[in-house]
Amino acid sequence: DALTEKQEALVNSSWEAFKKNIPHLSIVFYSSILEKAPESKDMFSFLKNFDGIPHQNSTLEAHAEKIFDMTRDAAIQLRAKGKIDLANDVTLEYLASVHVQKGVTEQHFVVLKEAMLKTIKKAMDDKWSEELSCAWSIPYDQLAATIKKAMGWEL
Ligand code: HEM
Repeated sequence: DALTEKQEALVNSSWEAFKKNIPHLSIVFYSSILEKAPESKDMFSFLKNFDGIPHQNSTLEAHAEKIFDMTRDAAIQLRAKGKIDLANDVTLEYLASVHVQKGVTEQHFVVLKEAMLKTIKKAMDDKWSEELSCAWSIPYDQLAATIKKAMGWEL
């Protein structure tokens, strides 16, 4: 699916809001993931040896930022050319191998999406809308599908 100009603008403005408060919002994001998929705690190098979720942890924050950044980038590309090409700092082959190795499941992709939408809602507060959630869902779903295919899953 391509994205409308409005949807791209919604993603961009909420991404800016996310960027302004990454220390807090990255905690919201991982809390939501662990609430729904507690077993995933041991999958993340920056969570597994901690009691709860570590605050002020730059690896955790960088990882959250990367996922939101890639989804926002996917939105821009879907708007511009109707398809996603990954930025060249991370190849699809590498991304797929990491997720296969960590044992990521279909349910995890659903959980991560819900966590992302919840985090964006927190970031936007009273400027949140259903339309905004939908604008993030489209690039996330397509990015996830790209990764799953590269993981060798039949979609
Ligand atoms: C690692 C992106 C979905 C679990 C990574 C890395 C990226 C990434 C960029 C870092 C690779 C590296 O630099 O080493 C994404 C994107 C996703 C997605 C864009 C969805 C569209 C998921 C899901 C899970 C997951 C659903 C499971 C809950 C992990 C784990 C790592 C990882 C455990 C290794 C982190 C570490 O321990 O350092 N992912 N991911 N990812 N991802 Fe994902």
